[in-house]
Amino acid sequence: AIVSLRQLLDHAAENGYGVPAFNVNNMEQVQAIMTAAQEVGAPVIMQASAGARRYTGELFLKNLIQAAVETYPDVPVCMHQDHGQNPAVCQGAIRMGFSSVMMDGSLQADGKTIASYDYNVNVTRQVVEMAHCIGVSVEGELGCLGSLETMKGDKEDGHGTDAKMTRDQLLTDPDQAADFVEKTQLDALAIAIGTSHGAYKFTRKPTGDILSIDRVKEIHRRLPNTHLVMHGSSSVPQEYLAEIREFGGQFRETYGVPVEEIQEAIKHGVRKVNIDTDIRLAMTAAVRRFLVENPTKFDPREYLKAARQAAYELCKKRYLEFGCEGQG
Ligand code: G3H
Ligand code: 13P
Ligand code: NA
Ligand code: ZN
Repeated sequence: AIVSLRQLLDHAAENGYGVPAFNVNNMEQVQAIMTAAQEVGAPVIMQASAGARRYTGELFLKNLIQAAVETYPDVPVCMHQDHGQNPAVCQGAIRMGFSSVMMDGSLQADGKTIASYDYNVNVTRQVVEMAHCIGVSVEGELGCLGSLETMKGDKEDGHGTDAKMTRDQLLTDPDQAADFVEKTQLDALAIAIGTSHGAYKFTRKPTGDILSIDRVKEIHRRLPNTHLVMHGSSSVPQEYLAEIREFGGQFRETYGVPVEEIQEAIKHGVRKVNIDTDIRLAMTAAVRRFLVENPTKFDPREYLKAARQAAYELCKKRYLEFGCEGQG
């Protein structure tokens, strides 16, 4: 059944676990997430970016999700709009039947320019007013995702900005967060702590100076009842990089967010953990391996089945690591 983000995260907070929010773009990803969740008894957050909606077309995405809900009637599913750039995008998602939307007002509607605090408050509050009257939840974002190594914003996946930033912009301020939550009345707050989107997050295994779990703790102390969201939370497992390289792909040296850091953050208020890149890596590694090991095969079902299996294994692992087992 479809549930709101608020319902899901309230339960997660009461029971001290975190929920991975997986990005979906196609049928194999939806099936992988649902199968893994059903197997371990986890609740599901599926999220679609604007790019995902463009890729599938609205009706295909809507009906993929409907198929997931009907096929797995016992699994609670939150369908969430990822990174809504303006209130109109959020409105469109709500019209499509999404049970949760992110109004990302950390950047202006062009998705590139850093927004003022007042702009962010205004658009987020506007979406909350619209969404809450029909039981839809809202995630907002305060602070800018980006690297504390390069002091630049995050543009790897095509949106966002690579503008120079200060440490203050790259780390959400706890007092401002409290004001933001009070003024907007949002359901979940995405925070900046040094993570960024995509495969290239850190040039070394991150330590506290470039990935600030301390900042999570400070925000949670200030706002113990607010559900926190970590974006850019793929772990970029070295095994996937090795497999992709072994079968003809190219990757520079790179590191993601270690699972043990996410587990620590979950102890301090993080309830939604956004993961897209790890599924991309898992599927790409599996497809590359399959095609190299089976040079005569050409039925897409065969290599997509391998990709789906790899995605399923990743999802199951994260459900278990974040404490979702039996919570759905
Ligand atoms: O926000 C980032 C997510 O990984 C979605 O990426 O815009 O390429 O679908 P996308
Ligand atoms: P990753 O690129 O680390 O998977 O982050 C995904 C994300 O934050 C989607 O909003
Ligand atoms: Na990056
Ligand atoms: Zn994100």
